[in-house]
Order: sequence, then C-alpha cells, then structure tokens
Amino acid sequence: MTAIGIHDIEVATGHHVVNLTELAEARGVDPNKYIKGLGQDEFSFPAPDEDVVTMGATAAHRLLERTGAEGIRTLLFATETGVDQSKSTAVFVHKLLDLPGEVRSIELKQACYSGTGALQAALGIIARNPGERVLVISSDIARYELDSPGEPTQGAGAVAMLVSADPALVEIEPASGVFSEDVDDFWRPNDSSTAVVDGGLSITAYLKSVEKAWKDLEQHGGPSISDVAAFVYHQPFTKMARKAQAHLAAFTGTELNDGALDTGSVYNRRMGNSYTASLYSALTSLLHHEDGLTGKRVGLVSYGSGSVAEILTGIVRADDATRRGFRDRVLGMLDSRVRLSVPEYEGMHEKAMPSAEDTETAAVTKSPFRFAGVRGRARHYERA
Ligand code: CAA
Repeated sequence: MTAIGIHDIEVATGHHVVNLTELAEARGVDPNKYIKGLGQDEFSFPAPDEDVVTMGATAAHRLLERTGAEGIRTLLFATETGVDQSKSTAVFVHKLLDLPGEVRSIELKQACYSGTGALQAALGIIARNPGERVLVISSDIARYELDSPGEPTQGAGAVAMLVSADPALVEIEPASGVFSEDVDDFWRPNDSSTAVVDGGLSITAYLKSVEKAWKDLEQHGGPSISDVAAFVYHQPFTKMARKAQAHLAAFTGTELNDGALDTGSVYNRRMGNSYTASLYSALTSLLHHEDGLTGKRVGLVSYGSGSVAEILTGIVRADDATRRGFRDRVLGMLDSRVRLSVPEYEGMHEKAMPSAEDTETAAVTKSPFRFAGVRGRARHYERA
C-alpha cells in the first residue's frame, strides 16, 4: 500500500503577544496559576488587519516556498473562526496564494477537531489519486470574555500541511479511532464574538473522548500503546495535554513518554490556544524538539468540543537534523511579535471582530498578506 502522510508543515501566528504574568497581575491572580496551573506563558493576539485567512495564507505561503504548489488540486481550510456564513476561507486563501483555477477549495468546521477531519479527507483523496497533493490549513483565533476563566487560554495561530504520497515528514497509518457525542461543553453562537464554555464539563468531555477514541483505535487494528514513542494532543492550554496523557496512561495501565509533553508544547505555551491548529502546532513542536524519533511511531490525539475526537498514529520519516533545522525560524517568529500592554490588549479585544459594514483597515501586520477591509459588504485581502 502507498504510504501517505504529511510531507511538510509550517506554523504562523498573530502580530501581537500578551504576557500572562502581566495579565495575572492585572487580574489579581497568582501568575503561577497561568504559568504552572494552565501551562501557558503568553498568547498571540492578531493585529486589526489579520484574521484566520491571513494567518492561514502566511503559513501556507512559507510552506509552498519550500515545496512548490505542483499537484495541488484540493485546498482544505479548517477553522471555527469563519469570516463569512457562505464563502469559505479556502477561496480567499486560494487567491492570495495564486493557485491555479483547477483546485477544489472548501472550509470544514467542527470546533478544534476539523483540522483532523481535513487531514483524513486529504489522505482519502490521495489514496484515490496518489499523484495529487492536498494543502490542509488549520487556522483559528481563540477569544473568551475579558476577565473570564478562559481569558488566559486565548491565542491565535495557523498550521499548513502538505499531504502527499511518499511523504518526507510523517507517514500517517491507516487505522484511527473516532468518537462523537453531543455535549454542550464549548460553543460560539452566531451572534457572539467570544466562546461560551462550561470549563469543568469541557475537561471531562475531552478525557472521556480520549478514552473512547483509544478503545475504538484498538478495535480497528491500531498499534499497541507501548509501540507509540510519543503522543501529542490538542492543547487548549498545555496542562490539558498532561491531564489527557495521565488519563490515557491510567486506563491503559502503561507508562508513557512524559518528556514529549515538554517538547510537544514549546510553541503552544507561547501562542495560546489555536483551536484547529493546536494539535498540529504541538506536532510541529515535537518534531522540531524531540530527538530520536526517526522511524518511531507518534500518536495524534484530536478533540473538538461539541464533541468529536480522533486518534491517529504516524511514523516519523525525517531525520533529527532536518526536523531540528526548522526550530529557529518558528522561535524567531514568536520572538518578533509586538508586545501589547494589558490596557492595549483590552482595547483591541473589544473591537477585534470587524462588522460586515464597509471599512478600511489600518496596515499593521508584517505578514505577507493583510485584511484590507470590507467594501460593498465583501471582505478584501491583499499582499501586505
Ligand atoms: N499555582 C499553581 N497552580 C495553580 C495556582 C497557583 N497559584 N492556582 C491554581 N492553580 C492550578 C489549579 O490547581 C488547576 O490545576 P489542575 O487543573 O491541575 O487542578 C489549574 O491551575 C487551573 O485552575 P482552576 O481549575 O481553578 O482554573 P479556572 O477554573 O479558573 O479555569 C478552565 C480553568 C476552566 C480550564 C478555564 O481556563 C477555561 O474555561 N478554559 C476554556 C475551556 C477549555 O480550554 N477547556 C479545555 C477542554 S475543551 C477543549 O479542549 C476545546 C477547546 O479548545 C476550548
């Protein structure tokens, strides 16, 4: 059978950064609650001329500079921060990337899970047409109300993956474990720019889903857990990955590689929650920071509130030096974000979602693409 998987991967994030020690002080909270209790140091915050389209296009642009766009006939864009009720984010990105007309461009939604749904769809398309490649983009902006429990877990980020036959980076294995259940743990109504969340329920629903998806994977020919060298998880906050791994270890009665929880969370600790992109920025962090993974199996644990979960496994193909070689570029991108004071962030938080009324957007972002504004009630994007 042809090996199919992730040929290359890239991360992008927002222009600004908010420091969680400063936010804790402003909220009258011990900073260790955020840094140790949640496992978060900072979060990215987009400039007014950035959104999921510009972040997704930026990640994809950097990826395609390395790989070229030949063979791409499908662009799948996963997000729960859609910018229009009808037109997909994928169509905007298709234009920004100058892709040829002969491409199917679609947006997928199921909370933080849909990046994994997009990856599965890509694997299926390539199984039928091994000469094609699929561009999968996950991009989100996590927003909660000011001074709410979710506030320190906000964030912004995008991950682009080129999925192909004979992949250079990670071969995805055919077996996967899935689980769906209708739960009101987290959602965002159409008239709200911030998410509604039942924090306690969201954590128990996540843990239950991991257990159910793992059992389903076992029943569908998945590997023994002792043959998985490292797991990466959807990380609404990085401590959640620790909770999920502890649960997985307990109900399977296995000792798991806890060191991978650190190497798999370097970027997420600094970007915050990026919903659909979170699992894949965790995978990127693991691949860039965990040595000795070549030829070994990794587990990918995906959870999207509402809820859908899936566990995939893959075999790492790229060598340590190649994977490590990408680390400094991502760290440099995170270092170069422009810091916001808490009052500056609060002011931007209140007007972060532009309305559908006509408006011109101030030029701020240093990314290659920007959201130019709304004309005739239609969104316009341009090269920055
Ligand atoms: N020093 C060190 N640790 C401290 C501390 C201190 N001074 N003070 C508190 N802590 C610890 C607590 O003990 C706790 O740790 P444990 O969970 O290991 O017990 C941790 O800090 C958090 O403290 P609380 O539980 O009191 O925090 P909270 O109730 O204010 O908020 C939350 C936590 C409910 C998860 C909130 O951040 C939230 O609502 N987040 C959004 C929802 C979310 O992310 N859910 C996760 C699963 S859903 C999902 O995955 C989908 C998605 O992306 C949203």
